[in-house]
Amino acid sequence: MKREQWGTRAGFILAAVGSAIGLGNIWRFPYMAYENGGGAFFIPYLFAMITAGIPFMIMEFSLGHKLRGAAPRAFSKLGVKLEWLGWFQVFIASVIAVYYVAVIGWAISYLGFAFTQSWGSDTNAFFFSEYLKLGDNSPSNLGGLQLHIAIPMIIAWGITFAAIFTGVKGGIERASKIMMPLLFLMVLALIARVIFLDGALNGLNYLFQPDFSKILDAKVWSAAYGQIFFTLSVGFAIMIAYSSYLPEKSDISNNAFMTVLINCGFSMVAGILIFSVLGYMAQEQAKPLTEVVSAGVGLAFVTIPAAINLLPAPYILGPVFFLALVVAGLSSHISIIEAVTSAVMDKLKWSRKKAASVVCGVGFIVSMAFATNGGLLLLDLVDYFINNVALLASCLIELLVIGWLLKVSDIRSYVNSISEFSIGKWFEICIRFISPIMLAIILGTNLTNTFN
Ligand code: PHE
Ligand code: NA
Repeated sequence: MKREQWGTRAGFILAAVGSAIGLGNIWRFPYMAYENGGGAFFIPYLFAMITAGIPFMIMEFSLGHKLRGAAPRAFSKLGVKLEWLGWFQVFIASVIAVYYVAVIGWAISYLGFAFTQSWGSDTNAFFFSEYLKLGDNSPSNLGGLQLHIAIPMIIAWGITFAAIFTGVKGGIERASKIMMPLLFLMVLALIARVIFLDGALNGLNYLFQPDFSKILDAKVWSAAYGQIFFTLSVGFAIMIAYSSYLPEKSDISNNAFMTVLINCGFSMVAGILIFSVLGYMAQEQAKPLTEVVSAGVGLAFVTIPAAINLLPAPYILGPVFFLALVVAGLSSHISIIEAVTSAVMDKLKWSRKKAASVVCGVGFIVSMAFATNGGLLLLDLVDYFINNVALLASCLIELLVIGWLLKVSDIRSYVNSISEFSIGKWFEICIRFISPIMLAIILGTNLTNTFN
């Protein structure tokens, strides 16, 4: 059977950008920048983007495009002994998929609450006790499926399943073409409103104020590299699967640059949005900004709802914010599930419909573990392991295999033979030396910290 193809170049880029832009851009990036030196964080971040993000994206796009397979098949074509690397990445993608969908589910619930701010004034107690039902957190309190969490997760799975089941062009591409412009519009509309609030500029000052003393801190570099790989969805079999559907005539280097730049630009915009809101909130509550700022789950489900309570027209801005979170999350979730589905299709020669049904069915059942009141604990654990160990290890192995077992110069000439602008020798230097050395150092540090 002929491999499916994207309908248009814009469709492919929107799908790749849809994968890259996700929860990570909204709830991870702004806080990371703030925590790791503010304006000064952009130095390691841009360094990681140029030395690791862009070369990695070019590499994965060319692997998918040339080898026409999801990660396991693509790697097996490079060498039979390499198929496991593809499956390892597919496995990591599956783990991400099942906890990522839980957060999308929460965001769907909060989208509903946002119309009337039914989270009340104590958003912390509401989220942890009333919504997640963490209670006293004792082990006896764990377990037990929470239907009010399971149902929004089912909705998220339903949308993902519909896109994957329908196919690359009619499903994923069509969904991306609706979702991504909608997301950009919503975020710009939010910024246009909040940037004029009292205290917003103060918040931005905090975000961008450079603390250059942090530049020499290894942790800051680790954060920058970790964030680049996570935010670009590289190293998880995803971009290889997506680019395996590129038509013969495609511009690899240009597509890769666009995907990276749009994603990182979006992160910047999300940072401006979040910190304008936090600055306003600090002003309203007459607190220092350092007391209102938070990250991850706490930012999205405790701090932002509290900020929404204080906003003008909260019944509009609130739902728009959570809808943006849902859309950003869903387009990433679709890409993760496609990476798994396409690997199964390649290997077992199943039809898309059958593979999509089995993958989503199994994923759905496993993800229900996160709809119990042990969900948040499990999520923190898995998230930590994925970001600090699995992701870095997977990217490092891929770099070593491609950079040292195979010839990177072949990839470069392949890219240059089909792309409008050529990439230079720097590409090979980044893939073979700079990125693996940085990754090895960071991974080593993280492993020592984890086991100490
Ligand atoms: N890139 C997405 C984000 O920033 C997350 C993601 C990770 C998506 C891995 C797919 C795979 O949130
Ligand atoms: Na991202």
